[in-house]
Amino acid sequence: MSGARPQLRRTLCTKFLLPGGLLAIAALGTLALVFPGAAAQGATPVVQAVHLSASSGSCGSLNLKGVSDVFNTGNPFKSSIVSCSGGHLLHYGDKAITYANPPASSVAAGKLLFDQTCSSCHGSEANGVSPSGQATIGPNLQGVGTATIDFWVTTGRMPATDIAAVEAERKPPRLTDAQALEVAAYINSLDPAVPAVPTPNLKGADVADGASLFALNCAACHTITGAGDALAFGTNAPSLQNRQVTPQQVAEAMRIGPANMPRFSGNLTDAQVRDVVAYVTEYIQHPTNPGGAGLGGVGPVAEGFVALLIGVGGLALICFWIGDRS
Ligand code: HEC
Ligand code: HEC
Repeated sequence: MSGARPQLRRTLCTKFLLPGGLLAIAALGTLALVFPGAAAQGATPVVQAVHLSASSGSCGSLNLKGVSDVFNTGNPFKSSIVSCSGGHLLHYGDKAITYANPPASSVAAGKLLFDQTCSSCHGSEANGVSPSGQATIGPNLQGVGTATIDFWVTTGRMPATDIAAVEAERKPPRLTDAQALEVAAYINSLDPAVPAVPTPNLKGADVADGASLFALNCAACHTITGAGDALAFGTNAPSLQNRQVTPQQVAEAMRIGPANMPRFSGNLTDAQVRDVVAYVTEYIQHPTNPGGAGLGGVGPVAEGFVALLIGVGGLALICFWIGDRS
């Protein structure tokens, strides 16, 4: 009987205390790694409607390269073209998303801005070629569509500040939203292309559909809670819990596929894109935690470590208590 207590104490300590301690260290390490990415800050997103004067006419020859010609996938199709003027496509789309190009009258202001802030890296013709015929630091921007320009400029990725970076990081934008559209109008005038700048109409969104589409298409890189994660070669999928990311930017990212992110065009309809946008901006950016503490929304694995830490830590304490009572 007298040997039972130390025996129990030894067993409990080797079985629980040692692995518990190791797990606790692992859990703390994991949390420290993932926590910075979970910080969600900023103001409530605002959908920016782009209002253009409606006029009709032919859309001229539109460059559809790189975009599948499937109905309702973010590219214009006959019945969806709402407005053109002088060969210039103004807007297209459906109830779920309206895609709009800035008016041709923005081109002159855009050229000035481009010459001052972009041409040094992308070439004076935005074609990735310097006056001496060499490749510039930045790639060819002709024929990418206004959504691509608008995304890179409004997310502050452009103008680039660190050309040695493997991935252009999101930062506070240097140009205003209006200036981003002007620059986009100018670059697009050199080789008109789609997608144009999307404005999702979140009113009719099916958020449950958005949640399952997110799990299938986005969670692999951005994680199921949207906290973001490291990818290969020093790149990373940024946090979507960041409330600076607007509905427009989520739709743009899906339709253009920036950097290492795939482009979702032929496989998702505008209604589906709109549903994902609603899920990201209404739920991921504003999580409710009905089950208790949210733990920073870092995801099931890291949160599981917290359960282990508290559970196993508790057992270790009980082990001490039992062992010391004699
Ligand atoms: C200091 C150099 C530099 C300046 C200035 C700069 N860029 Fe860039 N830009 C780059 C580099 C380098 C890349 C490729 C980065 C990457 O893929 O992560 C790039 C990529 C881009 C892309 C993505 C192209 C694509 O097809 O995915 C766009 C759009 C863009 N820049 C627009 C602009 C605009 C508009 C401006 C001016 C407001 C600008 N850039 C200013 C260097 C620059
Ligand atoms: C293969 C990995 C991958 C998948 C899958 C993926 N993304 Fe991304 N995503 C990225 C990367 C990498 C970036 C950063 C690109 C850059 O630096 O320009 C990014 C950027 C973004 C951004 C811009 C965020 C910011 O801070 O500016 C949004 C929004 C976004 N993704 C949404 C989505 C949505 C929605 C889906 C699913 C439909 C998705 N992504 C699927 C890798 C991915």
